[in-house]
Amino acid sequence: MLTNLWYVAEWSKAVKDKPVRVKLLGQNFVLFRDKAGKVNCLSDVCIHRGGSLSKGWTTDRNCVACPYHGWEFDAEGKVQFIPSRGEGAPIPERARIDAYPTEERYGMIWVFLGDLPEEERYPIPEFPEYDDKANWRAVEVDYNWTGSVDRVVENGIDIAHTAFVHPGFGYQEMADKNEILKVDRGEYWGSSDNVLYPPQLEGNFGLMKLFRADKAATYVTPAFYLPGHCVRLHIKVNSWMEMIIFDANTPIDENTTRSFAVQVRNFFKWPIFDNGAKKRTKKVFGEDGDIVAELSPNYLPESLEHEVSVEQDKFMGAWRMIRRKHIEEKGWKIDTKAMKPFEGEKVFTIPSPGRRANPHFKWALDTVPLVPPKRRSVPAQAKDSTEPESV
Ligand code: FES
Ligand SMILES: [Fe+2]
Repeated sequence: MLTNLWYVAEWSKAVKDKPVRVKLLGQNFVLFRDKAGKVNCLSDVCIHRGGSLSKGWTTDRNCVACPYHGWEFDAEGKVQFIPSRGEGAPIPERARIDAYPTEERYGMIWVFLGDLPEEERYPIPEFPEYDDKANWRAVEVDYNWTGSVDRVVENGIDIAHTAFVHPGFGYQEMADKNEILKVDRGEYWGSSDNVLYPPQLEGNFGLMKLFRADKAATYVTPAFYLPGHCVRLHIKVNSWMEMIIFDANTPIDENTTRSFAVQVRNFFKWPIFDNGAKKRTKKVFGEDGDIVAELSPNYLPESLEHEVSVEQDKFMGAWRMIRRKHIEEKGWKIDTKAMKPFEGEKVFTIPSPGRRANPHFKWALDTVPLVPPKRRSVPAQAKDSTEPESV
């Protein structure tokens, strides 16, 4: 699991006037709205006696109150009021917890879980179709996986599995016809153009069958983004019908992932077609979920010596390489093994921007250990392991 990225913590509609607990990167956080409607995110551990702020309430001071002794924490994680000391009494300087930047986009609450200053953060991926209500109709789908986020993202961009895992999307005998036309990649993203030959589409009261012939060439563009561990899958059904599935994949812990998915379509935009769109999207997630839950190991192997790749896996190789660069060169990976001996004895938090801005402040809680970056660049042999073997 990686720090220093934006992740989706919850749907916007799920956070109203009460604090809400979310778990990300193995840690608990509280989300709460202030009176202006802005969402705030704090570590869910009160530094007084360990109360869970998400079980408390929001207050007139625009704070969240701890349910144990009523201490009130503001949007920056600073204590503003200690009821047992009374109004106006000084607050101990160390009475502060980590607070994280938030944004609301695409009906989702995004939280930046790391300590990078604003100008160094990778942006939240673009999804302009979501806001273009005149041309696109959106439905939301939630899916919980047993599986690490790395495997989930890899599954989302894997074209070769469609012929086997999704009967609605491929024929096994056409597996060798599917083709990767192009792969592009940047510092924190990758995109690939592909052509597939799927069966006719089902659904929408049988209407979909009319719009694409069986095994017609269909252009599909999957893309991945490190921020949000997002996958964007653009499907050109025919010359005028398109759909996009945009999903943010949130690591709840090492082996649990929650997908916040929005599917948009530029056809049949009436609400009567929404339920079918949701059902079909959820079915596809379910087909993938059954496979991902059984993968061994559950996480992506750091060394690929124990796997064999072929030409058709090269886009997945791009994902692995970009992810690994951020582990080995930037040191963003949480060292969960180093935390295991402390289970139940010690609370860790994800470092927040406030920590970097106040390096001499004596924070009550320690931050999660990170796997140290490797000083030298990736050795040639390891580099090659993400590339397909010659075939
Ligand atoms: S534990 Fe939170 S106020 Fe005491
Ligand atoms: Fe799939």
